[in-house]
Amino acid sequence: GASTADAGAERGTRAVAETPTDREWARSLMTESAFDYCAGGAGDESGMRRNVERLDAIRLTPRALRDVSERSTTTELFGRPLAAPILVTPMGLQALCHPDAEVATAAAAHSLGLGFTLSMFSSRPVEDVAPAAPGLWQQLYLLREREVSWSMLRRAEEAGASAVVCTVDVPVVGRRSRDARNRFSRFDAAPPAIVRDPSFLGLLEHRRRRTPSLTAADFLSDVFPDPAVDWADLANLRSRTSLPLVVKGILHPADAKRAVDAGVDAIQVSTHGGRQSDRHVASVDALPAVLSAVGDRVPVLFDSGVRSGAHIASVLSLGASAVLVGRPVLWGLASGGRDGAANALTSLLTELDHTMALLGASNVTDLGAELIGSWEQT
Ligand code: FNR
Repeated sequence: GASTADAGAERGTRAVAETPTDREWARSLMTESAFDYCAGGAGDESGMRRNVERLDAIRLTPRALRDVSERSTTTELFGRPLAAPILVTPMGLQALCHPDAEVATAAAAHSLGLGFTLSMFSSRPVEDVAPAAPGLWQQLYLLREREVSWSMLRRAEEAGASAVVCTVDVPVVGRRSRDARNRFSRFDAAPPAIVRDPSFLGLLEHRRRRTPSLTAADFLSDVFPDPAVDWADLANLRSRTSLPLVVKGILHPADAKRAVDAGVDAIQVSTHGGRQSDRHVASVDALPAVLSAVGDRVPVLFDSGVRSGAHIASVLSLGASAVLVGRPVLWGLASGGRDGAANALTSLLTELDHTMALLGASNVTDLGAELIGSWEQT
């Protein structure tokens, strides 16, 4: 890798974002433990790899002789326009990648007309990030101390969030061998902004009466995750906000159906990027059954393994309404802050447009089942 000085001098100067080159570039700029936290997955990491391999396995059959001289990737979600059906997925602790953290990734997405989701464990508070991406989405976990989740919800609403994402695939944190090897303590390495939430601070003070040595990181590890979260909690959250509610981390069609019955406004099919289990079905393999279960009642969103515009075109052709991009945005952020993140997203936009032209699709609504050629066995 480059020396720190060389790396610093080049930060933000590279014009084109490419994978996997950018991942390696980001790696050269990050500490090993921070890179491993972002890049790593659960168990033997085969689940993480399978997400990408199964997207790679999709073969598309193009339509010919369609005038594709005028193309548009625009769409809308929850009544708001998007330059393309692409959003940034919630990812915590972005200060591990770059000091501008979520302010940079939010600004990058917003500058391109794409959506942005702020993690509940963001490095920067929603009050700092929302001005960079007005109408951002706020992701929440339901913590053991529910009051803190409701406080984060209230603050996001006041900051102008336009949707809430409830992540339901972390009853326990996945076993990630890289983090264990590095003895990586995520909340110590990069304290998330939630530790300054008034409700969090109040409860921490209260706990410290009994345990004076309790740190904010300790307390956060006590309240997250909560393995007891169930459907009643989702119903409770539903009753507390009138914003569109997305449930993230659904893989089973029966759960998708039940979530829709519970009043959610979208399903986000996800394996959490293979960070939770190495034995779960690949995200894209779970998508068709979820789409059948949901029908046209609510939009189905997708993440986990999206690395190219062709992947995005494939997922949209299967029937998803939008895709959420994860790690490629982190590599862009680490490589060049806001500009680096924007480069990563621009690559995806350009590839999507190019793929659409090759498929004979002028609009994203032209991407459909007729273009799914086959699904190779891997
Ligand atoms: C995540 N993800 C995540 N999801 C969530 O709901 N809340 C969170 O705070 C985080 N934090 C987080 C941190 C890091 C470093 C990563 C890589 C991921 C999961 C994320 O939203 C998404 O499901 C995956 O990133 C998708 O996989 P790919 O496409 O990034 O491989």
